[in-house]
Amino acid sequence: MTKQHQHWGSRLTFIMAATGSAVGLGNIWKFPYMVGESGGAAFVLVYLLCIAAIGMPVLVAEWMLGRRGQKNPIDTMRGLARDNGRSPAWTLLGISAVLVGAVILSFYSVIGGWSLYYTVQAGAGRFAGQDADAIAGLFNQMLASPSLLLLAHTVFMLATVAIVARGLKGGIEASVRLLMPTLAALIVILLGYAATTGHFGAALSYMFAFNFNSISGDVVLAAMGQAFFTLSVGAGVMIAYGSYLGKDTNLLATARTVILFDTVFALAAGMIIFPIVFANGLETSEGPGLIFITLPLAFADMFGGTVIGLLFFVLLSFAALTSSISLLEPVAEFLTERSKMGRPRATIAAGVVIWALGIAALLSFNVWSAPLPGVGLTVFDLLDKVTSQYMLPLNGLFAVIFVGWVLNRQSVLDELGLSGTTALLWSVLSRLIAPLGVAVVFVAGLL
Ligand code: PHE
Ligand code: NA
Repeated sequence: MTKQHQHWGSRLTFIMAATGSAVGLGNIWKFPYMVGESGGAAFVLVYLLCIAAIGMPVLVAEWMLGRRGQKNPIDTMRGLARDNGRSPAWTLLGISAVLVGAVILSFYSVIGGWSLYYTVQAGAGRFAGQDADAIAGLFNQMLASPSLLLLAHTVFMLATVAIVARGLKGGIEASVRLLMPTLAALIVILLGYAATTGHFGAALSYMFAFNFNSISGDVVLAAMGQAFFTLSVGAGVMIAYGSYLGKDTNLLATARTVILFDTVFALAAGMIIFPIVFANGLETSEGPGLIFITLPLAFADMFGGTVIGLLFFVLLSFAALTSSISLLEPVAEFLTERSKMGRPRATIAAGVVIWALGIAALLSFNVWSAPLPGVGLTVFDLLDKVTSQYMLPLNGLFAVIFVGWVLNRQSVLDELGLSGTTALLWSVLSRLIAPLGVAVVFVAGLL
């Protein structure tokens, strides 16, 4: 039981894994459609503010908790509460985080499945020469088929389980190191294409021309939820990844790097997708189908579009996979450490339950598309909204409160290597701004 907890191979490995977790469907799939649904620049502005003032301190706090605990998020919180003379009720934070991660994975895997299906479609040259109607038709046919969605979801879950079952290091580190730079290169190519559509300026002003009137409680709540989702905080993931950290990793510098990559990917995705939307007279408020309808249209008439389209969806799938692995890790870590099953069986057990929940999510696009009575949302939308907008911020709030107010203040500053002004800045951020920020957004959202 008191065997030494394993550690990342190097700081670079950790950066790659954390960036792999952060950069995913949240950036390329979710961010653009949320901007589109929430009216553009107001959402972007609040999102960026939330990342800087709330997401950053929460991310650092979660890594610190994990590193101090050297265990799964649940036992980490239990141990830290005990060591600091606090109520065992803090364990609930660990439980909630692990559960939320599992719930997110259930619907994340459905979209991961869409990415896999589109990889196959791209490879088969299905986009070439198609018009907007045909491309939309392809997407709608996919949604209308429960068996197709189930197959895709199952394959994606199997891939996720297969990797996590092999242990933290097996495969993840090497693949992420290879895939993230490639994904960056493709984003640049696609940005270049978007710049030639003649609607790049319109997209820029749509994303950045801020208009105060378009801010509402809903927009603010959605933007904060997306800030948590995109940084992978509030779901136990960064606590689990932090548990594999050794003493020497600089948490603040690493957070800066991961956040920079994540933000660049999200903004770039928007700058690629909106010009295509405007060039083709599509709706920005298309919702979850946005990238699956816009990008294939671009691939349809671009030189080399089949190859670039294939590469794009392969890499989207891998970006999703490096995030889905991280979503499975907290519960796999917990079951492995707390049972005699061993990691492979623990991972499979967790995977099966999550896979089953994913079925309810995928039926939301076809046979079960009527909103749930009394809730007004489909199962998919409900899982997505409740986790992103409420559970992630709530878990993150308690994590940063624990670090800001429960842990010994000097020991935290020492761990972060801070003194003087920067120490003051960190204290103000972690003790006041981040917790109050979450509270203010909750209140604004509920009004
Ligand atoms: N950050 C991931 C993305 O943007 C999603 C995620 C959320 C991963 C929560 C882990 C935890 O795609
Ligand atoms: Na992200």
